[in-house]
Amino acid sequence: MNKLLTTVFALAVASVTGAALSQEIKGDAKAGEKINAMCIGCHGIVGYQASFPQVYKVPMISGQGAKYIVNALVQYKGGERKHPTMQAIATSLTDQDMANLAAYYSTHGGESVKPPEKPAMEPGTKAAALLKTGNCAACHGANFSTPLDPSYPKLAGQHKDYLLVALRSYSVEGNPMWGRAHASMSGTVKAAQKAVGPHEFEAQIRETASYLASLPTELKVVPESRFR
Ligand code: HEC
Ligand code: HEC
Repeated sequence: MNKLLTTVFALAVASVTGAALSQEIKGDAKAGEKINAMCIGCHGIVGYQASFPQVYKVPMISGQGAKYIVNALVQYKGGERKHPTMQAIATSLTDQDMANLAAYYSTHGGESVKPPEKPAMEPGTKAAALLKTGNCAACHGANFSTPLDPSYPKLAGQHKDYLLVALRSYSVEGNPMWGRAHASMSGTVKAAQKAVGPHEFEAQIRETASYLASLPTELKVVPESRFR
């Protein structure tokens, strides 16, 4: 192998192991707080809306699981998750920055009240059908706030319009600006869509997003003063 190729190969290996290792780097919440100024303009404002790919509320990340936050940031940086602003921001972060920000946001606003193991409220017929076909609770927990694996997101109480955009994004392919490629979620969403057809699927995800958003939550927006 010539020298240039060897270097390129070594770099590629380094970046792959870097992504795998990033989940294990220990985060420092205090260090995360110091760099969160570049996040609060969107994630620290109650009701703040994004306008791409449509208008929806920016997701709540305070109280979200630390490993999931890192997982999401790594995917924006790596391009598996496409979204122009978040990709630009994630690209500027090191693995250590991500771990620090995740430590900060997962504990932000103090200890969350754990929702009951099973929600008291039943989903409507269309949401129930999707939750059953997709076996969603198996990964996200019966209360949708106790994920099977800490790198999976808490969904309960997340903004309805964001959940809807997120669910749509898993079946988007070939769009240079938008779409998510996560294997198990894309597989689940595409199979569910194929089972009932695009029209019924849209009705199902609308009802599911409303249902999930209405459940007791650990997620929150913690407003912060810009003048600290
Ligand atoms: C300009 C507004 C803006 C800024 C600034 C911003 N974000 Fe985001 N963030 C968004 C939007 C919009 C999304 C949803 C993108 C999508 O649809 O995938 C998002 C998504 C996320 C997600 C994924 C949430 C989930 O539930 O999957 C994480 C984690 C995140 N941002 C962390 C951060 C961190 C950490 C910072 C600061 C370093 C930051 N963001 C700065 C707008 C912003
Ligand atoms: C095999 C496990 C698994 C199953 C089954 C599953 N999910 Fe997920 N889900 C995940 C993982 C992992 C992610 C994070 C994917 C990523 O990083 O983009 C996720 C992400 C999501 C998101 C995006 C959350 C956010 O904050 O951006 C939504 C919404 C969601 N799932 C809803 C569902 C629904 C509804 C079902 C059932 C139809 C379902 N999931 C089934 C594992 C699963």
